[in-house]
Amino acid sequence: MPRNLPEVWQPGWATPGVRTAALLALALTLVGCGGDEPSAGSDATVSAEPAAPPAGPSLEEAGCDVERASKVVEQCKVCHSVEAGAANLTGPNLYGVVGRAAASKDGFAYSKVLRESGIVWDLETLDAFLASPLTYLPNNRMAFGGVTNADDRQAIVCLLNTLR
Ligand code: HEC
Repeated sequence: MPRNLPEVWQPGWATPGVRTAALLALALTLVGCGGDEPSAGSDATVSAEPAAPPAGPSLEEAGCDVERASKVVEQCKVCHSVEAGAANLTGPNLYGVVGRAAASKDGFAYSKVLRESGIVWDLETLDAFLASPLTYLPNNRMAFGGVTNADDRQAIVCLLNTLR
């Protein structure tokens, strides 16, 4: 008789899916011990994920125009934090915004138009939005005229794409 019984369960533990599930279960258990606020569960599991892997590519590695990007992002930082897990300010935290559905950052009170926009933020939608936020999405609540210079815009979108 071939003794292949262990193979039934061992490879299972090696798959990322199973490990993630185990981590989530652990995180949920830990949160559960805290007790009073059940809705904190989803927050805790979301922030448990980005904590582990190192930051995304640097601006240089991503081929961004570092000087431009660093200058333009200062305008955004008046209202937005960009670090992983940082608090929402006047605007939502922008870490991981590329690939995210619009108005999906937990804990931020978005405008109705942004919530109902159906936008998914990618390099193109971000470029169009940032060129003129109010033209792209009338009545949204981002009180910012826009980044009119196309090179500046490319640089800031490139920077946003490294926030993962
Ligand atoms: C005066 C404050 C302010 C400035 C400056 C500002 N933003 Fe915003 N931003 C906001 C607010 C408020 C919202 C939410 C808008 C809404 O709910 O309609 C927002 C939303 C966004 C969103 C959508 C996020 C999501 O989760 O859907 C992106 C992307 C964004 N801003 C990028 C930028 C970038 C990049 C800059 C700099 C070039 C910038 N913003 C400058 C206030 C600002």
